[in-house]
Amino acid sequence: MQPLRGRHVLLGISAGIAAYKAAELARLLVREGAEVQAVMTRSAAEFIAPMTLQALTGRPVRDSLFDPQHEAAMGHIELARWADVVVIAPATADVIAQLAAGSAPDLLSTLCLATEAPVLVAPAMNQAMWRHPATQANIGVLAGRGVDILGPGDGEQACGDTGPGRMLEPTVILAAIEQRFVQGRLIGKRVVVTAGPTREAIDPVRFVANRSSGKMGFALASVLAAEGAEVVLVAGPVALSTPRGVKRIDVENALQMHRAVFDALAGCDLFVACAAVADFRPVDVAERKIKKTDEVVTLQLKRNPDILADVAARPDRPFCVGFAAETHDLEDYAESKRRAKGLDMIAANLVGASQGFETDDNALLVIWEGGKVALPTQNKSQLAVELVKLIADRFDAQTATQDS
Ligand code: CTP
Repeated sequence: MQPLRGRHVLLGISAGIAAYKAAELARLLVREGAEVQAVMTRSAAEFIAPMTLQALTGRPVRDSLFDPQHEAAMGHIELARWADVVVIAPATADVIAQLAAGSAPDLLSTLCLATEAPVLVAPAMNQAMWRHPATQANIGVLAGRGVDILGPGDGEQACGDTGPGRMLEPTVILAAIEQRFVQGRLIGKRVVVTAGPTREAIDPVRFVANRSSGKMGFALASVLAAEGAEVVLVAGPVALSTPRGVKRIDVENALQMHRAVFDALAGCDLFVACAAVADFRPVDVAERKIKKTDEVVTLQLKRNPDILADVAARPDRPFCVGFAAETHDLEDYAESKRRAKGLDMIAANLVGASQGFETDDNALLVIWEGGKVALPTQNKSQLAVELVKLIADRFDAQTATQDS
């Protein structure tokens, strides 16, 4: 997913101490394939050298309405049309006031008036300035006009105060800009995904677990996010990095996973249960490490709640997708599991010596009410793309039936 590839980003920088963070934002934007034109207010140069931005973006910084050389190459109206998005980071109280008033005393404010592209503003100022009724009124005006107000964050400020007014981190601003360009079938949908194994403690150092690597669940979360969904990934202990644009909640055992899923369920449209949840947990967890004094130790286990079945049993249930890992009779077992748990769809795979767990490839038999598709052996990332297509198809079909 590189939604910013080839996009024209006009990066406005005004005179705040947070201007140094604009350099990092420019670097991230360029890394994501965007073409970046930095536009600085006159006093912004007191905080960051235009040469820094020029080096990072590969374009001379623009800072004047009346620069004959620049205006001849690309006039300010042309520049306003060139932009696919305008981002002002940092945006001082003064720039915000200019935008709210519609005044155009310099190049940046003029471009904001002349552009039809979306405008995103990342305020950065002293906490008292941010709280001032004038600033708050201006922010209200901009928000009412559809300007995206990013932040500000709360915390320690350069002036020694503590409170709201810190510019958001460049990575957070980048994600907000990307969100503007994400195209996909699941925009506006909320999805909860479980992934990985769970670990059920026996004593402080030992646990019962399984071979799940979490790769399939993480690949699904990544593709769902690329399709525009807001994804919460509840992950057991795995050695994987969080997919871009996904909110990750780490858990250790089945009870924690159950709680985390139910906490994330409000407004959820789709639930994809990919985790290999331990079916049982030790009845007693020893507080101290169990010593090897006895020849035979008996471990008593009790059933864990079935997260997927519990979600599917809710009256306001989302569209539920489950997984089934079987060693034989794949279709029969998977279909009876789908019915028993009341699922909208089940993706079944054979597990054995060389398949399923801990591998990069997999094959799936996907079954829903009245239909099935076999997805052949392929890389889990590619398989996730195919499965998400099927999920989106069935989800759309179901939503259409409910609406009619
Ligand atoms: N699942 C769950 N909570 C559990 C157990 C399983 O959410 N406590 C979900 C898994 O994420 C998966 C599906 O249910 O989507 C698997 O169902 P399950 O009946 O556990 O399948 P198997 O583990 O294959 O069952 P069995 O051992 O009975 O074959």
